[in-house]
Amino acid sequence: MDITNPALDDNLRAHATPTDAVLADLAAETLAVTGADAGMQISPDEGVLLGMLARLTRARYAVEVGVFTGYSALCVARALQPGGQLLACDVSKEWTSIGRRYWERAGVADRIDLRLAPAEQTLRALPPDPIIDFAFVDADKVAYPVYYEELVTRLRPGGLIVLDNVLRSGRVVDPTAQDEADLAIRKVNDTIALDPRVDCVMLPVRDGITLARRVD
Ligand SMILES: C[S@@+](CC[C@H](N)C(=O)[O-])C[C@H]1O[C@@H](n2cnc3c(N)ncnc32)[C@H](O)[C@@H]1O
Repeated sequence: MDITNPALDDNLRAHATPTDAVLADLAAETLAVTGADAGMQISPDEGVLLGMLARLTRARYAVEVGVFTGYSALCVARALQPGGQLLACDVSKEWTSIGRRYWERAGVADRIDLRLAPAEQTLRALPPDPIIDFAFVDADKVAYPVYYEELVTRLRPGGLIVLDNVLRSGRVVDPTAQDEADLAIRKVNDTIALDPRVDCVMLPVRDGITLARRVD
């Protein structure tokens, strides 16, 4: 299922702030090196949206779950307040090593604390306090309910969690879609919708994103 009419995609991208050479080169290298896996990378317009949301929340301490080759991490790191830090969680040294070179080139490498370990482990080791201003979740779908819970308990009032792929190409409304990831995404979507700790909205951007803002 297409989430938006494919005929509109070019138009959507054409009306977002254009990407700079660093992001464009990163996307090109990702495609050349990872082939079909490059489809995991967020789109340029989603990158603009992430940066805008991080700026609007005046994020100083951010967390990303699912780095791949570092495109979304770069968008978020650039948007942090002075002195800000992004805790970036992934398990792939190979993919994230591509990102590191572009973070260096963009001058934000010192703002990104990359942890190569299962994200669940990294998140559970964080202090229990409300230290997180902004979080982006874009990793293994089965663990989304765990990632959401570990993040929302540490989200400061007014802080924002963004979750990607919450529509799973429409599988969320297909009763025959019953794999582990389908069940986990439905579970986290329902949990967030009923969670009194947050205001939330689901947007039909790319494969669907949810914004969950910790109430004041
Ligand atoms: C969809 S990609 C992330 C795309 C990235 N946000 C971007 O903009 O390019 C998913 C990433 O999640 C990572 N991942 C998968 N399982 C993980 C886990 N248990 N802990 C941390 N990262 C994981 C994969 O290695 C992969 O790089």
